[in-house]
Amino acid sequence: MEWFKNMGKYRETLEKANEAVLKLEKIASADYHREAYHFMPPAGWMNDPNGLIRHGETYHMFYQHHPYKPEWDDMYWGHAVCRDLLHWEHRPIAIAPFEPYDIDGVYSGSSVEVDGVVNIFYTGVYAENGEARQCQCRAKLMDDGITVVKGQNNPVIVYPPEGYSKTDFRDPKVFLHDGVYYLVAGSSKENRGVMLLFTTKDFVHFTFQSQLVENDSPKDIMWECPDLVDFGDKQILFESRITDEYMDNIYFSGRVDFQKGKFTETCRGKLDYGVDYYAAQSFTDGNRKIVIAWMDMWQMEHPTERQGWVGAMTLPREIRVGEDGAAVITPCKETEMLRRGAPQVLENLSLQAPGTDRFHALDGDCVELKLRFAYEANSKFTIRLRGNVDGTEYTSIEVDTEKKELHMDRSASGEGKLKDSFCPFREKDGQLDLHIFVDHSSIEVFVNDGEAVMTNRIYPSPDSIHADLFMSEGTCTLVKAEAYALSL
Ligand code: FRU
Repeated sequence: MEWFKNMGKYRETLEKANEAVLKLEKIASADYHREAYHFMPPAGWMNDPNGLIRHGETYHMFYQHHPYKPEWDDMYWGHAVCRDLLHWEHRPIAIAPFEPYDIDGVYSGSSVEVDGVVNIFYTGVYAENGEARQCQCRAKLMDDGITVVKGQNNPVIVYPPEGYSKTDFRDPKVFLHDGVYYLVAGSSKENRGVMLLFTTKDFVHFTFQSQLVENDSPKDIMWECPDLVDFGDKQILFESRITDEYMDNIYFSGRVDFQKGKFTETCRGKLDYGVDYYAAQSFTDGNRKIVIAWMDMWQMEHPTERQGWVGAMTLPREIRVGEDGAAVITPCKETEMLRRGAPQVLENLSLQAPGTDRFHALDGDCVELKLRFAYEANSKFTIRLRGNVDGTEYTSIEVDTEKKELHMDRSASGEGKLKDSFCPFREKDGQLDLHIFVDHSSIEVFVNDGEAVMTNRIYPSPDSIHADLFMSEGTCTLVKAEAYALSL
């Protein structure tokens, strides 16, 4: 494979984009809703995480980026690096749309290390006879860890196999299994989302193997950002699905027969039950599998647009296969390094009506809360976070122990018209554990040690920091609460 050198006009294109980000950053950096410990672009628009990889001691995160304004438009790849999954440092923009095959956008993709070199695969977007086309392209990260060069043989996959959409054919995820390199990409056939599996020996020629999962939901018209998390004898597949009514991130857990290119399902579920969770991507870090997703959603209000930036990433999460086959998702151990000082602790408080003023230990706009509840059957109680003094602004997490459901109500959360979200939980002898991360403009709730997660953005005022816990039906005790102040 020959590689382009980033010379002349292409270099200028990158430089211009970097300058645009610097300009916008002057406005963006003053915004209170900039997160304190979650990843964000310096300015401009960001969506999906791309090309996540650990290379030596360095983690690389690329991302879908529009540098000129805080709106989705022609896509570039932004870039950041770190050594601990937390302290990300921004790098210059890595890839710009430029060549005939990616002139309309450099869309999502992945990285894989081959012989010590980070190979990058992304989707190039262009128009053919007035119709949008999406093709798969290759690039590589140079030894400086900053410069990305595109391959001369691009595109490496021009069209999907016959019968699949050429307009929706994107987001290559490349991985190694048993000595063979595979690529999965999203597409659609007869208005149903599909996940296509290819193999390759040289990263230039790709052989279509199969349509990996049967899509049995007529609602799922497109599956994008497919991923395959390989646990050796078990696999978890991700799909970011588009339906006519909503978009979300689902997973299928089971086993892939790589010889036959067939998947046998054990169970399925959602990677996250919040509204603001999409385009999750996994990568391998030693023995663990890490997942990071875009902590926002298409077609939603993004109040930070007025401040010159949009988009954040979730905390890094570890994914495992539970005993019953379901995904178990927990915050990566590294997040404990965000804790500042000993936790504030509360114990054995029975919940009462709102406003008892007993929960200031849980206040904050940048906190981690570990809460254990013991409830009696058919109880309802509420956790209010990010509340203001006069009680007009707050975000509620209502727990219904009969329905076994959490409900995050963002109608009084601050700026923006934000949708509610619902998350199921399992009965565990009347005990519920919630592990919550609050940041300036987000809340992530991990339920019962990784059974489910619910992630949403909120845009409250800086002084909305109060926490309150109260009953509305039945009986519940806060068995223990630990609250840690967090900072990077
Ligand atoms: C998912 C997605 C991808 C695409 C990218 C474009 O959020 O639609 O399918 O590659 O965003 O920015």
